[in-house]
Amino acid sequence: MSGSGQPQSDAFVFFGATGDLAYKKIFPALQSLVKRGRLNVPVVGVGRSGTREQLVERARASVTEYGGLDKDAFEKLSGLIRFVDGDYNAPATFEKLKKALGAATRPIHYLAIPPSMFPVVVENLAKAGCTGQARVIVEKPFGRDLASAQELSETLHKVFPEDSIFRIDHYLGKEAVQNILYFRFANAFLEPIWNRHYVESVQITMAESFGVKGRGKFYEETGVIRDVIQNHLLQIVSYLAMEAPSSTYHEAIRDEQAKVLRTVRPLSVENMVRGQFVGYTDEPDVPKDSYVATYAALRLYVDSWRWEGVPFYVRAGKSLKSTVTEVVVELRNPPPVVFKEAEPSEGNHVRFRLSPQVVIALGARAKKPGEGMTGEDVELSVVDQADAQGEHGRMEAYERLLGDAMAGDATLFARQDVVEAAWAIVDPVIHGPSPMYKYAPGTWGPGEADALVAEVGGWNTPE
Ligand code: BG6
Repeated sequence: MSGSGQPQSDAFVFFGATGDLAYKKIFPALQSLVKRGRLNVPVVGVGRSGTREQLVERARASVTEYGGLDKDAFEKLSGLIRFVDGDYNAPATFEKLKKALGAATRPIHYLAIPPSMFPVVVENLAKAGCTGQARVIVEKPFGRDLASAQELSETLHKVFPEDSIFRIDHYLGKEAVQNILYFRFANAFLEPIWNRHYVESVQITMAESFGVKGRGKFYEETGVIRDVIQNHLLQIVSYLAMEAPSSTYHEAIRDEQAKVLRTVRPLSVENMVRGQFVGYTDEPDVPKDSYVATYAALRLYVDSWRWEGVPFYVRAGKSLKSTVTEVVVELRNPPPVVFKEAEPSEGNHVRFRLSPQVVIALGARAKKPGEGMTGEDVELSVVDQADAQGEHGRMEAYERLLGDAMAGDATLFARQDVVEAAWAIVDPVIHGPSPMYKYAPGTWGPGEADALVAEVGGWNTPE
């Protein structure tokens, strides 16, 4: 049994063992899990061709490049690695897998392969008798829209019950995202003001200074809304806006996420500004007339008792001025009746910087030293300087998530109803036409997006 009260997986199987995801994320996470004593079961890589020795060498190169080789941990990991080669369409591959699993009866299968391969792999796993008490991990995208997400889920549900399915959204594994939840519900002072009476607006910015890094083909199929908004940023919205979960029921957090996302008004084109950076169409595999957005700014409304009328602005983009993800919850101004000074342009705020550093800050007014009763903006902040790719970054997210999945703890995974509620929000705008504005790389995106936030005095642009 694991800490979650669920049985621990007794083998870790990953399809796509020779692929990119395995190289960049899975091997480094596995090495870290071994190092912390959280992984001591057979690790079976499945790939189209190669040998066990080649896979171990690839794992060694992977951990060396991403995070660093830990001699002892790697040695143990390589002792656990097995390899099965073969075509995913061929039942013989799955018979070999069954043999490689030996006495294991509760494997976890990580499908680090394109979603188009899921039906055949899942079916062949079941036919070979590898799914009895098994779990499955899948990577985003969880469909391209609401209908395809439902189809994908039906495919998985033919073999795996929902509580055995672990959909990875690596944002949920990030320390800083967990901290939103913690900070909200571990402190007494926030709850009384965390509502429409005190909060004027919420802004979430996910900016990346790089472009699509040669992934034009992938990006052409996704665009910014499918790539990071429908999943990562709406998960953050749900953590910011949800009601307090109870601690007595293991699905309480995901229940609250689903509940609040269902109160978010489906998006309309008037509440969205899309952009494309100049130069995107020169990327490999991107057509010259591409109409795919690399930037989007949205105004969302959470039509709940707590949030009615409070706009949640969300923007994300590639090739912007810097790489930073930040949430700013801005409070209403107090009545300007006590001090004879101009009303400050911004109210108090709570700021969560999620990357590259982890920062939680409270913005307030304090008296300026001197004779008069006039003030200035100050910030009380806690800063964690850990590097985003290091202890608190993406690597740790994968380690945490794979460890949780093996322990049967699904809290930090996207449940199907949460995924569907998030698709329902963006579905109305991802199919239809809408204007597209060009923006210069190295800026904060198209100026047209300013109109969305004019009512609250503009964007809170991260410094
Ligand atoms: C991925 C997206 O899910 O998240 C990428 O596909 C994006 O386009 C990445 O760059 C951002 O993740 P992180 O952890 O670096 O903020």
